[in-house]
This record gives sequence, structure tokens and C-alpha cells, in this order.
Amino acid sequence: MDHSDAAPHRDDTAAHPTEAHPSGKDAARYWDSIHARRPAPTDPRPNPRLVETVTPLPPGDALDLGCGGGGDALWLADRGWQVTALDVSAVATSRLARQARARGLADRITATAQDIRAALPDLRFDLVNAHYFHTPYAQDRTAVLRSAADLLRPGGRLLVVDHGSTAPWSWNQDPDVRYPTPREVVEPLRLSPTRWRVERADTPHRIAAGPDGRTAEVIDHVLLVRRIT
Ligand SMILES: C[S@@+](CC[C@H](N)C(=O)[O-])C[C@H]1O[C@@H](n2cnc3c(N)ncnc32)[C@H](O)[C@@H]1O
Repeated sequence: MDHSDAAPHRDDTAAHPTEAHPSGKDAARYWDSIHARRPAPTDPRPNPRLVETVTPLPPGDALDLGCGGGGDALWLADRGWQVTALDVSAVATSRLARQARARGLADRITATAQDIRAALPDLRFDLVNAHYFHTPYAQDRTAVLRSAADLLRPGGRLLVVDHGSTAPWSWNQDPDVRYPTPREVVEPLRLSPTRWRVERADTPHRIAAGPDGRTAEVIDHVLLVRRIT
């Protein structure tokens, strides 16, 4: 999904958690309000970096962190992956479950409303997908990504895609906003080079579609790490 779909709007301040690291309840309330004010997506699309990364891979088990509208989970399931999709917003996960049923993919997607800071499932995966897992308040992303990486089987991959630039239609036009580089994401994960290999850490540009048919060049920050053993 492009930032236009994922981002809160400026009038979200009423629901905006005022403190860093809000409780699971506050985070759920905030994200429920974001998702609920948008119409349920009728045809959620996958993120381009997911498509380019996963297309050559054989299907396996995937964990989608902060699945949002579900475009990534649905695309993966359609390609034969077994997907565990987690989001703190029950609005998001119930919409995804509905889409999965409508497409005959219900047996391939488990969509659960869960604060991923609190717990991750005790399962093993071949892919962990964290796409635009940005929040307008501070939360310990590193801890979540590190725990999720530990759920990968040998050979499995962690894909983290962050924004690298602010689209003109983004809710956040703060000129001082700074997105972490892929290196800044991977370093605090402290992944031993004997067990992990960084396959990709770059900042590619692409043309993104925004609301009202607008397009703009945006930058993604892409990190792909493979567990070797
Ligand atoms: C910017 S959206 C990205 C959604 C989707 N991955 C995409 O690419 O469109 C971030 C998502 O993370 C979810 N989220 C934020 N904090 C979370 C948390 N602590 N636990 C689970 N999901 C969370 C939000 O509900 C939201 O759907």
C-alpha cells in the first residue's frame, strides 16, 4: 500500500496517543480510528517491494507484521504462502479476514488483532514482512523486529521496508522528519554475521500513486536479511 493509504490524516489528533510507547489499548484505539474512517479496501494491492522480493521465492510460511489493509497478506496467500497476519487494529484484521473469505483464501490467512510489541506467535516462518511499520509515536521497533527475526527458519528472510521520503500527499509534511536508513535498522538488531546475511540494504526510488490519481517519485528504505543457519 502506498503511504496515502497507510498514513493518518491531519485531523487524527483527537485519537492521537499523546505519549511515546502507548499501551496496547491506546494503540488499538488509535489505529482502529485510522482504519475505520477509511472505506474498507475492495481490492487491497501488495506493496511493490514485497512483490519484487518474493516473486522468485517458493511459498512457505509468512508473518506479516502490521498487516493494515491486507494487500501483502492476500497477495502472499494467493501465491501459495500460509500467512499469519497481525495488526493491533481489529478493524484492519477483520477486514482482511473478510477479504480472505471472499477470495477463497481463508484457509491460507490467519488474521489476528494483536499488539506485536506484547507477543508474537510461537511459530516458525520462511518470511517476515514488515512494510511501512511506522507509527506517529515512539515504539520499540527494534525489539519487535529482533523477536520476529528469531522466528525465521534457516534460509528464511526478514524484509523491512520503510519510507525514505515524504510523499506530497502524506499526512506528515514535517520537513525535519528523518527516516532510518536500512543500515540504521539492521545495526541495532545485532544479527551475528555467522548466522545472518544482509542481502539488500538500499534506498531505491519509484513512482507511487497517491489519491486523486496523483503520482510522485518516492524513496523506499529496503532491508532484506537472510538467516543462514
Ligand atoms: C503505516 S501502516 C502499514 C500497513 C501495511 N503494512 C502496509 O504496508 O500498508 C502501520 C500498521 O501497523 C499497525 N500497527 C501499529 N502499531 C502496531 C503494534 N504495536 N502491533 C501491531 N500492529 C501495529 C497499524 O495498525 C497499521 O495497520
